[in-house]
Amino acid sequence: MKNYPNVHILDHPLIRHKLAIIRDKNTNTKQFREIIEELATLMAYESFKDVPTQEIEVETPLEKTTQTVVKENSIAIVPILRAGLGMVNGILTLFPAAKVGHIGMYRDEETLTPKEYYCKLPAGIENKVVMIVDPMLATGGSAADAITLLKKRGCKKIKLMSIIAAPQGVEKVAKEHPDVEVYVAHLDRDLNEHGYILPGLGDAGDRIFGTK
Ligand code: PRP
Ligand code: URA
Repeated sequence: MKNYPNVHILDHPLIRHKLAIIRDKNTNTKQFREIIEELATLMAYESFKDVPTQEIEVETPLEKTTQTVVKENSIAIVPILRAGLGMVNGILTLFPAAKVGHIGMYRDEETLTPKEYYCKLPAGIENKVVMIVDPMLATGGSAADAITLLKKRGCKKIKLMSIIAAPQGVEKVAKEHPDVEVYVAHLDRDLNEHGYILPGLGDAGDRIFGTK
């Protein structure tokens, strides 16, 4: 796969360790859910390096000082339902004041094209840094459509965080939305004929919510 300047692979031994656990088919729902959340926290630390900041006055026990903090009202997290929900609390751990929007999409099992069924976004989202979260970037259809939807709503600074990506999904998003920074924990080998990532981890939504 070609190198895309807007695609970042967040490789770290701790991330690899946690990926190995969630890929294992014997990992139970509780542990799977916990690790998806932990991975989102680890990835947020790196992917929000350029978070907007502001200067504030702080009085230490000794003197007044000017300090840098995360800018108020500057971040929105937008999970793609369902599986993206599993990543939200992991990011809120670091950014407890972030607003959360929701985009509901499912893939048609025959055509693999995404169908939108729900959308509720925070007021003023167009002026925030928007982090779309979805653990799986497979064909890239869901993520690319979610980005297009947010752009139509006026969002100018959009990022995407996915835990596992297929080359096809990365290429689609990188080509269609070169202005969007994409963060993934691992780039897997391929997709199978049903659009599942190989080696992947199976159906993320089913594994997070225990529906199969
Ligand atoms: C999964 C996943 C992504 C999408 C990725 O959702 O969570 O949203 O598929 O596939 P794509 O890159 O080919 O679009 P799914 O449609 O299984 O819905 P769910 O989260 O409700 O289980
Ligand atoms: N959605 C998933 O949950 N897993 C995949 O491998 C592909 C799409």
